[in-house]
Amino acid sequence: MELVKVKNIVDSRGKLTIVEGSKDIPFDIKRMYFISGVEAKERRGFHAHKKLKQLLVCITGSCKILLDDGKNKHEVFLNDSNQGVLILNPVWREMYEFSQGCVLAVFADEHYNESDYIRDYDIFKKMIER
Ligand code: TYD
Repeated sequence: MELVKVKNIVDSRGKLTIVEGSKDIPFDIKRMYFISGVEAKERRGFHAHKKLKQLLVCITGSCKILLDDGKNKHEVFLNDSNQGVLILNPVWREMYEFSQGCVLAVFADEHYNESDYIRDYDIFKKMIER
């Protein structure tokens, strides 16, 4: 997991947030999705991916992301569309404390594939230790 800078162009008309696949991030973008309308008390995620590469950018508002690579845990506070979380390896993640109106954009290198998910933390830990 690494924090990366995301390009923004701001002028009097508002803000553009730009991500170009295989240029700004080290993969082609095959899928994008947006998480929004999340109540402050909700927690999402609770999974890792076996292969999927992703970039997470909070386009507006803020949220927190817990990232756990099986050895170290990091909490990232995303409140700036200039900042992205790049995930290239299996990382357990939880997302919480979404502000009202928060839009979290996710860019991924593959289509949705449930068999790429690890939704059990103990299985994730065992896979990392192998
Ligand atoms: P889920 O993995 O629970 O979301 P989060 O990681 O944000 O907590 O996904 C919710 C549902 O949406 C689940 O049934 C899978 C489905 N889904 C898709 O069909 N396509 C997708 O690209 C994603 C991300 C989820």
